[in-house]
Amino acid sequence: MKRHLLSIADLSKDEALNVLDTAAELARITETPVKKLPTLRGRTIVNLFFEDSTRTRISFEAAAKRLSADVINFSARGSSLSKGESLKDTALTLQAMGADGVVIRHPASGAAHRLASQEWMSGSVINAGDGTHEHPTQALLDAFTIRENLRESTGDLTDLNVAIVGDVLHSRVARSNVLLLKKLGARVTLIAPPTLLPVAVNSWGCNVKYDFDSDLKTYDVVMMLRVQRERMEDAFFPSEREYARRYGLNAARLSQLNSGCIVMHPGPMNRGLEISADSADSDKSVIVDQVKNGVAVRMAALYLLLGGE
Ligand code: CP
Repeated sequence: MKRHLLSIADLSKDEALNVLDTAAELARITETPVKKLPTLRGRTIVNLFFEDSTRTRISFEAAAKRLSADVINFSARGSSLSKGESLKDTALTLQAMGADGVVIRHPASGAAHRLASQEWMSGSVINAGDGTHEHPTQALLDAFTIRENLRESTGDLTDLNVAIVGDVLHSRVARSNVLLLKKLGARVTLIAPPTLLPVAVNSWGCNVKYDFDSDLKTYDVVMMLRVQRERMEDAFFPSEREYARRYGLNAARLSQLNSGCIVMHPGPMNRGLEISADSADSDKSVIVDQVKNGVAVRMAALYLLLGGE
């Protein structure tokens, strides 16, 4: 693997499969009574979060601790960043403190690339979500969850039919998932109102549809995306009620999915908007599995970047 994990494009298909296989092995080990491995003893991981997070921050912290690393949690709020300190000076501070790995979440697309490319630090940089650009470890944990539920025996995602539904425009999760799922051989359909699709979506190499109701029976995976109201300065749909009616996963649509189809959502969910409570809590939902698998996948990423082969 390269020194940094900034984008799914940084991984070859074999490297991505190696992360998933390593995560499966680590998940097995951490299910034993002794949950911790000594692999990263003496190494320091800094969680550098300029944007709010629950799942990603906690699971990176749990992953690093299960590999016996020292963990420093650093959030923009309450730090000198709120006094205007630059990304460069923050990076130089982390270097001086001996950070071996930095997990960064930032509202600006490209922030993780900037941190890695300037050589301000000698450690590895892991992108934990940058603006609307990418969230590579989310895509890896999603692929892990799909394998675990639908392709446990072979681990192969070839020809799985995956629908990604909702606010694609603002979704770093959608971008990373499209890159990874296509790399692993799945067929991806993006379903969204035209206003919530990027201008260049035709170059993504997926099917694109505006209608959620046709073909519901054909999907193996329905991945709902959060409506990112905090990134919307304009009105992208007439009303929340209208959005939920046309693009929400509700009981009626849920009942039309095929019996083996799984329902995913990266979280946090807007219950009642992009997904109804009965869909989120149904027996098709693997949303809690996604959160659980985040720890093993992030352990694998830290282990392969910092610990060895
Ligand atoms: N899926 C995800 O990135 O969730 P958080 O924002 O809670 O980390």
